[in-house]
Amino acid sequence: MDFTLTEEQQMIQDTAREFARSEIAPVAAEFDDSGEFPLENIRKMGELGLMGIEVSDEYGGAGLDTIGYVLAMIEICAADAAHGTIMSVNNSLFCNGILKYGSEEQKQKYVRAIATGEEIGAYALTEPQSGSDASTMKSRATLSEDGSHYIINARKSWITSGPYARYLVLFASTDPDAGARGISAFLIDTERDGFHRGKTEPKLGIRASATCEIELTEYKCPVEDRLGEAGQGFKIAMSVLDAGRIGIAAQAVGIAQAAYEASLNYARERKAFGREIGTFQMIQSKIADMKTRLEAARLLTLRAAWAKMQAEKTGARFTVDGSMAKLFASEAAMWIAHQAVQLHGGMGYSKEMPVERYFRDAKITEIYEGTSEIQRMVIARTETGLR
Ligand code: CAA
Repeated sequence: MDFTLTEEQQMIQDTAREFARSEIAPVAAEFDDSGEFPLENIRKMGELGLMGIEVSDEYGGAGLDTIGYVLAMIEICAADAAHGTIMSVNNSLFCNGILKYGSEEQKQKYVRAIATGEEIGAYALTEPQSGSDASTMKSRATLSEDGSHYIINARKSWITSGPYARYLVLFASTDPDAGARGISAFLIDTERDGFHRGKTEPKLGIRASATCEIELTEYKCPVEDRLGEAGQGFKIAMSVLDAGRIGIAAQAVGIAQAAYEASLNYARERKAFGREIGTFQMIQSKIADMKTRLEAARLLTLRAAWAKMQAEKTGARFTVDGSMAKLFASEAAMWIAHQAVQLHGGMGYSKEMPVERYFRDAKITEIYEGTSEIQRMVIARTETGLR
């Protein structure tokens, strides 16, 4: 087993770290406060190849591997998880699925625009009445009589980057009687007639990433913009989420790393009872447990990235690897951020320090792209073979 990074992996880690520290960290609190979408930074990240890390240069991306993607996500999210959320949706949820299931024309048109950061992508699966039980969606797509297009009527909620997205991957049922096997995937251009944005969600954390409802009414989607085969949509949605969950695990590691480093510095500098608080055993115990959980989360996430890379050669599934990484890393991030607030005492509760932001941002990693409960269900179902 060799943990050495390749030259390309090292390079993308350095690029992301440098950008995160110089361009994101100084403005992260400001964006969190205002909730403004960091469009200018996202465009710059696109220029650096961070919006399509696994996309080949033929479609405008950086042409690197999943480990490179994880390393870059950790660096960006250590500076600001909201920038990381936008980055992960463009990379994992938008580009990944089209690279895997899309036609050459779809890759040229949709992947290029998003991987370069010129446009923003989004993924529309969740509906007001269906979150964890995603296959029970009510959105419908009906093929026109001449077979040239689908007419889509859909209502989707919690659409990350929805207010700024130009293109979306959207799931709707083309055969409601067939349940999960009747769902199809579509590429949606938000500038076409019939696309509407709804209310923007005010959120606890990742506040600079915008989230809204969307609605499609009698939206005409050309048949060539269906992604994959009719009825294959649910499998596309799930396999895209397999990869997406590795990105969220990386996001959790980034937040946990930032919370840990802030705590380490504070433990060394802050004095109480005439000594640095880091000399007290109760603080030492926190530091040791934070560091151990952080590194365990990092390893599980990198291992999932490696499993995805192997699966790309063999066609095997890496579902459980991604679920375990997301489950463990998100819960580790929440626990580490919680300890960080406690270790900072009153300052941990103050907006003068970034730890309260890490605490708020960590929470979403236990919820989106499948809650911790869903990850446990996926892991246990696969391991036991029982349902
Ligand atoms: N890869 C490929 N195929 C898969 C799959 C996977 N990972 N998981 C399931 N499938 C297939 C199954 O093999 C099955 O196929 P067959 O009918 O041919 O046998 C089909 O899909 C249906 O599978 P299940 O019966 O297991 O489906 P289910 O209804 O019981 O649901 C679930 C399973 C795991 C609960 C799934 O619904 C799920 O993951 N729910 C959580 C949804 C989620 O993560 N939502 C996040 C929204 S996106 C978001 O948060 C993004 C954002 O904005 C940042």
